[in-house]
Amino acid sequence: MSPLDARAAVFGSGADTVSRYVDILASRGIDWGLMGPREGDRLWDRHVLNSIACADLLPEGSSVVDVGSGAGLPGIALAILRPDLRVVLLESLLRRANFLELAVEELALGDRVSVVRARAEEHHEVYDVVVSRAVAPLPRLVDWCAPLLARHGRMVALKGETAGAELAEAAPLLRRRGLVGRVVERPVPATDEVSWAVELERAGR
Ligand SMILES: C[S@@+](CC[C@H](N)C(=O)[O-])C[C@H]1O[C@@H](n2cnc3c(N)ncnc32)[C@H](O)[C@@H]1O
Repeated sequence: MSPLDARAAVFGSGADTVSRYVDILASRGIDWGLMGPREGDRLWDRHVLNSIACADLLPEGSSVVDVGSGAGLPGIALAILRPDLRVVLLESLLRRANFLELAVEELALGDRVSVVRARAEEHHEVYDVVVSRAVAPLPRLVDWCAPLLARHGRMVALKGETAGAELAEAAPLLRRRGLVGRVVERPVPATDEVSWAVELERAGR
């Protein structure tokens, strides 16, 4: 299967846009130091596909904030996959926020994707879904992200194999904050890999 066919199989009508996004990551993303120089060959599966593995956890039409978006992962990948989502890319570093602004403009996603340069703990909007990937240990993430959750909202923290251990360790904090969580495991599309997320919601929702 050609790379474009592989992208179409996962992203459908977003295949061209996701190809352009991978090109941006491979060029400016590496030049600006947002992606490691050795990531060039792994952008598609290790980063983009990994970012969308848990997309089914996001309800149709959700408002989503990607906390610590970096180069746009998972937020840009999710926005390309799911045209029903409205996505805010929240990033504290100026250089990274500038990268995100350019990417959103070049990918013509500006009608539903916006960039906010701020620290999560200083951001005061609420969202249906708060996503994050590779940003902070779960207790710190919960402190930053719980205030961003709408009453019915959920947090989806993309984690590695440590998801279960992190969730267990955070149990006292979650109880104090009135949150309940579970670990979700999903196959990474078009690969033999699996991906894990911690999903948190308010108790008794
Ligand atoms: C390791 S990178 C991960 C980036 C991206 N999520 C990914 O998976 O490739 C962590 C990102 O979180 C950002 N960040 C760290 N603390 C933050 C905070 N308190 N609020 C917003 N962004 C933060 C950093 O600037 C950095 O871009």
